[in-house]
Amino acid sequence: MLADDVEKVLITSEEITARCKELGDEISKDYHDTVPIMIGLLKGSVPFMAELMKYITIDCEMEFMAVSSYSGTESMGDVRILKDLDRSIKDRDVLVVEDIVDTGNTLLKVKELLYSKGARSVEVVSLLDKPDRRLVEINAEYIGFTIPNEFVIGFGLDFDQKYRNLPYVGVLKEECYK
Ligand code: IMP
Repeated sequence: MLADDVEKVLITSEEITARCKELGDEISKDYHDTVPIMIGLLKGSVPFMAELMKYITIDCEMEFMAVSSYSGTESMGDVRILKDLDRSIKDRDVLVVEDIVDTGNTLLKVKELLYSKGARSVEVVSLLDKPDRRLVEINAEYIGFTIPNEFVIGFGLDFDQKYRNLPYVGVLKEECYK
């Protein structure tokens, strides 16, 4: 079973739901006078976006983008667009939905890109934050949980495309990636 590969559960399904309710409340208050476009970054943000949006009580719209980080020799990774937006975000308030902010390279590039498309504002909500790993100065405005520098899986997060369907966030057993 998939769960047999998990060393320990870091954040339970119940904790995620409770935190999504709080974040949904906050976002609904902060965006009460606009209709934000939530842009989920595929694929890791899907379970988080689905949970979070249930608790957003104002009008909002949904879009998705897929990007991939080049992991070359440069310290500033570049980001390639695998799936672009289908429509204009000009003059719109955008809320990027991300699974985890790690080095910060992805978010930095995605924010630049969305501003270059004419967004009025771009803020970020991330399920997880790993601040110890940050290489560039960027932070999400809304954070579900701050976690230590451990590789995590579940609730959208993968190792080699696996484990995204676990209903909690956990740490993988060493033997599964060594
Ligand atoms: P960043 O550009 O380094 O901030 O990387 C962000 C992306 O790296 C995330 O959207 C994840 O897809 C991936 N990532 C970073 N840390 C982890 C982790 O602990 N588990 C699974 N994926 C991760």
